[in-house]
Parts: sequence; structure tokens; C-alpha cells
Amino acid sequence: MSENVIRFNIAGDDRGSLVALESNKNIPFDIKRVYYIFGTKPDVSRGQHAHRNLEQVLICLNGFVKIKLDDGTASQEIYLDKPNEGIYIKDFIWREMSAFSPDCVIMVLASDYYNEDDYIRDYDDFLREVRTVNQYMRTELEDA
Ligand code: TYD
Repeated sequence: MSENVIRFNIAGDDRGSLVALESNKNIPFDIKRVYYIFGTKPDVSRGQHAHRNLEQVLICLNGFVKIKLDDGTASQEIYLDKPNEGIYIKDFIWREMSAFSPDCVIMVLASDYYNEDDYIRDYDDFLREVRTVNQYMRTELEDA
């Protein structure tokens, strides 16, 4: 899978640290929604879905979490534990979050409003849809 970790510049001084996030600058889309996940119970797994038309950046502001990303052909696991590091997740990527530390706070920036119809919540449906999309992209490239 392609490199998808974004490292944010820390505007640090002797008072501490500050990170600024800006649409279409260090965040590669227009930010329309921000949500955050905290107080996650031990041994819980979240996510387990993909989106059809949504870009997101996940940032672990506090604590740590394990993120599994799967594009239908390959998967990778990333530990997020730095408030100046984010993962960019484009559409048609299956994601699972687990191993939340008790103090974990994840902030998610999203390119669109919440829309349940944009979710693919069944893994077999995801594989079917992602294969169709990849096949379509290959055909478009061959025809270009
Ligand atoms: P869900 O997508 O299941 O969370 P996760 O993928 O992190 O496991 O969302 C949990 C609940 O929150 C669900 O009832 C939908 C609601 N929700 C919103 O209302 N707005 C949002 O932006 C998100 C992401 C979820």
C-alpha cells in the first residue's frame, strides 16, 4: 500500500507545542467535518468499514491505537501515538482500530458530512466493490 502517514510541523517553543491543520495545505482536502473518539473500552475494535466517497485524516492526539488498513489486495498495520502524525485514508480502504490505550483520543478530519449511505460495513461487499472499482480504473487507463 502507498505511504499514507502525514507528519505535521510542530510550532514548538519554550511554552510547549502547537500543531495547525489547514484545508488543502497539510490536510489534502476541504475539511467539512471533525469528530473524535475517546473513552474507548479495553479490547474494543472500532471502524470495520470502508467509505465509497470520503477522505479522512486520523490523528491520535493522546495515548496510542493500532490501525489496520486494507485496500482489498494488501493490508498494513500502523501504530499511531504522536499528536503530530496523521494517517490519510482515501475512499475504498477498509479500516479497523484496536488496542486503544485507556487515555487514547483520536481526532478525525473528514472531507464530507456524515452519511450512512456512504459506508460499506460488510467486508465481502467491500471486496466486491473495490474489485469492480479497480477493474474500472484499469480499463480507463488502458483506454486513455
Ligand atoms: P461508527 O461509524 O460506527 O463509528 P466507528 O466507525 O468509529 O466504529 O459511528 C458510531 C455512531 O456515531 C453511529 O451511531 C453513527 C454516529 N456518527 C455520527 O453521528 N456522526 C459521525 O460523523 C460519525 C463518524 C458517527
